[in-house]
Amino acid sequence: MSLQGKHIVLGISGSIAAYKSAMLTRLLIRKGAEVQIVITPAGKQFITPVTLSALSGKPVISEFFASGDGSWHSHVELGLWADMMVVAPATASTLGKMAHGIADNMLITTYLSMKAPVFVAPAMDLDMFRHVTTQRNLEILQRDGVQIIDPTEGELASHLEGKGRMEEPEKIVAILEECFATKKELAGKKILITAGPTYERIDPVRFIGNFSSGKMGFALAEECAQRGAEVLLITGPTAMSLSHSAIRRIDVESADEMHDAALKAFPEMDAAILSAAVADYRPVQRAERKIKRKEGEGLTLTLTPNPDIAAALGSIKREEQLLVGFALETDNEESNALGKMEKKQLDHIVVNSLRDEGAGFGHDTNKITILSRSGGKRAFELQTKKATAKDIIDTLFAST
Ligand code: C5P
Repeated sequence: MSLQGKHIVLGISGSIAAYKSAMLTRLLIRKGAEVQIVITPAGKQFITPVTLSALSGKPVISEFFASGDGSWHSHVELGLWADMMVVAPATASTLGKMAHGIADNMLITTYLSMKAPVFVAPAMDLDMFRHVTTQRNLEILQRDGVQIIDPTEGELASHLEGKGRMEEPEKIVAILEECFATKKELAGKKILITAGPTYERIDPVRFIGNFSSGKMGFALAEECAQRGAEVLLITGPTAMSLSHSAIRRIDVESADEMHDAALKAFPEMDAAILSAAVADYRPVQRAERKIKRKEGEGLTLTLTPNPDIAAALGSIKREEQLLVGFALETDNEESNALGKMEKKQLDHIVVNSLRDEGAGFGHDTNKITILSRSGGKRAFELQTKKATAKDIIDTLFAST
């Protein structure tokens, strides 16, 4: 749980809570971290760079160029230097600029160059925090892999009471320590993850697909990468994006393409987690041109089965490789899932029931049960897909 020797970029934006960044800097330095502060022009209105450079032992960066000699402050180098970036306090404006890549100050250019995990600790008035714009920007950032340190409730600078107080520096330090603590557990492991739907083309403009969003697979990829694994994510069409540098992403469209990419990669892998919702069938024929509507006539499509990627990997799996599948069921959940585990030679199967409110496709939450070949069974409550990913990875790698 040590921050000893870690390189931390601390971003400070213009909020009353900037006074807490002085304490945060002090605590990080005391833990043995090296802290490089990057402050926005508005941040300097709230706390002076003199205080911050004295506490961090490094000149504070604010402008694109050093005023003395005109030399360039390299945000690219900072992105490579950092083991972590934390923006505390993060104002509504800074969150918005981060979410949309508006790179008009050093803090944002540094964020856009960042290879390491990024945390933000929002601080603002309660109405600003709960405004739909702020919430949408936080959602975008979360989707991009940024970790949000939720503000707490209490008295605000406006003297109103509510949610918007930046989390206390001691707590922020504990969260950062936890991130480093969990980072190494899967170091040296190579993990293949499939995610999202597949699209099976009917003609140049139409396809057969499903409502899978890819959220579960992406959360698993982020979780494995955070614990130090080298991740290969093979994903069907999805709007999801990643920020973790340890994740290699291959985008595919059809089950056939996913099958070929997964089969090629699997021999090199220690584990494969197959969360993709692969289409079971594809049209036998793909029309070269858009199929025209014929008045009063129906259209019959003939479908042929797609390869079962899980079963194909199961058949070539080596003893020491771990193979994990998902089962999305509407009825007889457990017995169907056990059948699939057997048939596809899986070590574990993660079961969701479509009967559970909030579980399955598109939701941000999931409710799962993990069944294991060894006979184990663990059921979890409805929770975010991020928390679900943690539980899955804890269970799969419990003994390693
Ligand atoms: O048989 P069913 O589609 O319910 O099995 C689900 C599991 O098998 C999931 O892990 C899914 O990713 C995987 N699968 C696959 N290739 C298919 C169909 C399912 O890898 N063609």
